[in-house]
Amino acid sequence: MKIILFGCEGQVGKEMRHLFQYSPDFYPINRQKVDLNLEQKIRECIGEIKPDIVINAAAYTAVDKAESEPELALQINGIAPKIMAEETEKIRAKFIHISTDYVFDGRANKPYLETDKTNPLGVYGKTKLQGEENIRAISSNFVIIRTAWVYGKYGKSNFVKTMLKLGQERETIRVVMDQTGCPTLAENIAKVIKKIIETRGKDSQQEIYHLTDLGVCSWYDFAVNIIKNAHQKGYDLRVKEVLPILTEEYPTPAKRPAYSVLNTSKIRREYDLTLPYWLESLERYFYSL
Ligand SMILES: NC(=O)c1ccc[n+]([C@@H]2O[C@H](COP(=O)([O-])OP(=O)(O)OC[C@H]3O[C@@H](n4cnc5c(N)ncnc54)[C@H](OP(=O)(O)O)[C@@H]3O)[C@@H](O)[C@H]2O)c1
Repeated sequence: MKIILFGCEGQVGKEMRHLFQYSPDFYPINRQKVDLNLEQKIRECIGEIKPDIVINAAAYTAVDKAESEPELALQINGIAPKIMAEETEKIRAKFIHISTDYVFDGRANKPYLETDKTNPLGVYGKTKLQGEENIRAISSNFVIIRTAWVYGKYGKSNFVKTMLKLGQERETIRVVMDQTGCPTLAENIAKVIKKIIETRGKDSQQEIYHLTDLGVCSWYDFAVNIIKNAHQKGYDLRVKEVLPILTEEYPTPAKRPAYSVLNTSKIRREYDLTLPYWLESLERYFYSL
């Protein structure tokens, strides 16, 4: 099975690369090989390698910056997946793409199902939704995995890394407590994608799945537990208190959904998955450092 992976140096991408490192027909593609701004390069890459499966773990993920760079965000999150869908369709390959909880507006009061109405609040969410819609319009064989609050060892930044940095610099950290979601370890997403490939290969599918770790928390709960784990791990921290604040006390360029918990029943049922509780994953993450 020949597999191309775009975005092989991001949080999820590097975990995937690690999992597939011994597969001879695995082609990890980074920005130097193919800049996703360059449509022709995407076409050439897929056309030359002729894979059975294309995985897209690349994205423009800077949620706030996207508000001032909407065209670039659209190109990477909306147009590049469209080109990938067109090229995979031409060679009858499968396309596995990652999307986000930010396609929802967060006004729900129970975990979002795959079939629930989307209504993104910001540029990032809108461009990611555009990517999903383009794929659905073009591809006869795709899997879109919506995930949320991703953190892991790799990639440039994430909430855990930010909290650890702030914890080393400040005595008090203020974190929003009125946004609810579920943190998800990047490694867990990579493992599930591998399982989907092992289970279904390049069988024809047209599916959207929600995939996060299990449970629910606020960014505040997440931060408290990051600091707790860091203390246990022996980090030298200055922080003495983590204080809960409201979103309105921490204005950001992009609006975020207040509630973006995803219902993961469908993927758990179809692939017989036992997903980890988010606190267990966080402990495992610190244990692995
Ligand atoms: N992070 C989250 O909290 C979160 C939440 C929900 C969903 N997701 C989704 O999950 C997926 C994986 O996210 P992640 O956190 O692993 O992302 P990430 O760590 O930010 O990695 C994104 C990757 O995309 C690559 N990329 C960006 N622009 C590119 C371009 N013009 N050409 C080529 N490559 C480009 C980056 O390359 P460089 O390394 O060269 O910059 C990077 O390796 C994405 O689809 C994202 O939307 C993420």
